[in-house]
Amino acid sequence: MLKAEPRVISSIMGLYEPKFVSEMKGRGIIWFATATTIAEAKAAEAAGADVVVAQGMEAGGHRGAFHPDEAERQAVGLMALLPEVVDAVVVPVVATGGIADARGVAAALLLGASAVQIGTGFLRAPEAMTPPPMRPDLPGRKHTRL
Ligand SMILES: Cc1cc2nc3c(=O)[nH]c(=O)nc-3n(C[C@H](O)[C@H](O)[C@H](O)COP(=O)(O)O)c2cc1C
Repeated sequence: MLKAEPRVISSIMGLYEPKFVSEMKGRGIIWFATATTIAEAKAAEAAGADVVVAQGMEAGGHRGAFHPDEAERQAVGLMALLPEVVDAVVVPVVATGGIADARGVAAALLLGASAVQIGTGFLRAPEAMTPPPMRPDLPGRKHTRL
């Protein structure tokens, strides 16, 4: 990853070692760290994350919790987690988890997010090549009002 020198590297399920972080910084690579609790968000910021991605328990794919043993007990919905994380850190916060239409984007921005990240919602996109039998069950579209 370091050799490829992308603009951004993201992380889930924990933090990078200090040596890796300083090598990222030395190359001008921006670090987006996924956090699922306030404590994880604070730890990410303290470790040098440039952006915290606050991931609610609604998130599809892998959840980025740091500790597998505590993940289930610490499941927090995005709209509860987001304002707490925004208040707990100074760096910009990206909101993710269960956002699939403009209402979700608007709510996240209102709660202090600087941007949003969408996963499952894009499974409807032609580029995702999601098999047709799976598509009708995906959230979004039907209830979009904005
Ligand atoms: C099919 C799929 C693959 C994903 N792969 C990754 C990944 O490789 N790295 C990552 O950080 N997050 C990954 N995610 C999680 C998303 O980045 C995001 O946190 C999550 O999907 C947001 O919740 P949503 O699916 O409700 O929009 C994936 C999500 C999905 C649905």
